[in-house]
Amino acid sequence: MSNIVVVGTQWGDEGKGKIIDCLTEGAEVVARSQGGHNAGHTVYVNGKKFILHLIPSGILHQDKLCIIGNGVVINPKALIEEIDDLTSNNIKVGDNLKISKNAHVIMPYHEALDGKKELTMGSKKIGTTGRGIGPTYMDKASRNGIRMSDLLWPDLFKEKLNANLYEVNITLERLYNAPPFDVDAIFEQYMKYKDRIESYLADVTVLMDDCIKSRKKILYEGAQGTLLDIDHGTYPYVTSSNASVGGAMSGLGVGPKCVDEIYGVTKAYTTRVGGGPFPTELLDETGQRLQQTGSEFGATTGRARRCGWLDLVVLKHSRRVNSLTGLVITKLDILDGFKKIQVCTGYKYKNSVLTDFPSEISILENCTPVYEEFDGWDKPVLGIKEFGNLPNKAHDYIKMIEDRVNVPVVIVSTGQSREDIIFKGINK
Ligand code: GDP
Ligand code: IMO
Ligand code: MG
Repeated sequence: MSNIVVVGTQWGDEGKGKIIDCLTEGAEVVARSQGGHNAGHTVYVNGKKFILHLIPSGILHQDKLCIIGNGVVINPKALIEEIDDLTSNNIKVGDNLKISKNAHVIMPYHEALDGKKELTMGSKKIGTTGRGIGPTYMDKASRNGIRMSDLLWPDLFKEKLNANLYEVNITLERLYNAPPFDVDAIFEQYMKYKDRIESYLADVTVLMDDCIKSRKKILYEGAQGTLLDIDHGTYPYVTSSNASVGGAMSGLGVGPKCVDEIYGVTKAYTTRVGGGPFPTELLDETGQRLQQTGSEFGATTGRARRCGWLDLVVLKHSRRVNSLTGLVITKLDILDGFKKIQVCTGYKYKNSVLTDFPSEISILENCTPVYEEFDGWDKPVLGIKEFGNLPNKAHDYIKMIEDRVNVPVVIVSTGQSREDIIFKGINK
């Protein structure tokens, strides 16, 4: 296996966790580079369901080094809970997990500010996961964020906390009429977290460099999806990090020459959680069928995911901004039984048809999808493991995606478990 970046090509929840799990066998290192516990990556192992939020999905395989990079934002409480949860399920989390000292820390006030801001936005709210992701990245960008390494320097940490809370408490009390936070209470709590987490902290750029020099196979596990990327997504209805390939590099301190392949995980249809435009959204029975059959409920918040047909305009945009070298099609089995399948090939906007994803949200909000209809397949693909055993019409669907997006399909996922997978164009 080569060094592979795995990104989501849509609005997240494409099945990245499952694909990372399937590719981990051939890797030695699995690294997360951005996002935080807003992510929910589901993996089924021997029928048991695991949802990873912060820790790379590779942790479920023995003897793989798992790395959390500087680009990730970490809620120590959520991290400790995840470690404890895995450990209680006999999954080793020890020296196989390393966390960047430069990763920023999510504080309780970030979560409070996330919630309050959303409340004031009314119908324009983003529909965040409420995990404090945006406010933490805001502090990082305005250079007053707290990094994991700050927890190792208690006096410095308290000084920063004091300075931050001065402003935060004014905002909470005066703007939101909400209770302020107490410096000492947070300080004591976070010192306890530090005791639990300290042994995992490392200089991750040095570690990554060592892995690269010793030619270890590295899997880069993206979180969220390209359309949620802060630069390339449907801004402002996005998350606050670069969920496309660039984030994988800056979030771990490596350069693009260290990567061989960039795989875009793509659901055979489209889903989105939270607010924002979604041209192919189906508010009818078909949308409900996709939602029910696909069990489309958020792995982090439990919210129902909005569902719609596959959107090739989105995929071409993702191909472009990620330089994709391979596509991974997931949840093909959810289209089993559909006689006809619609695929969006362009957006009607005023008197023209757009085939490039519009960069302005005000245009996107007024686009209607142009569909092309394809035949469904006559027997189920669920659980099929050989490409040759897929029905002809499923072959046609995959070939159509390859041709239209101009990227080869390298993996097809036909069910939720590890075994339901077809490696088409690659060696594991
Ligand atoms: P992620 O955030 O990209 O890792 O995706 P999620 O875990 O949030 O959501 C994907 C959901 O689809 C999970 O419940 C997976 O178990 C499930 N899943 C992944 N691949 C397949 C597949 O090929 N078929 C079916 N039926 N379920 C799948
Ligand atoms: P994974 O890695 C799907 C969405 C939220 C919201 C927007 C901003 O599991 O694919 P945030 O809390 O990040 O400020 O919310 O982004 N969102 C996701 N949607 N999958 C995710 O992660 C997501 N992480 C954030 O629903 O619309
Ligand atoms: Mg998810």
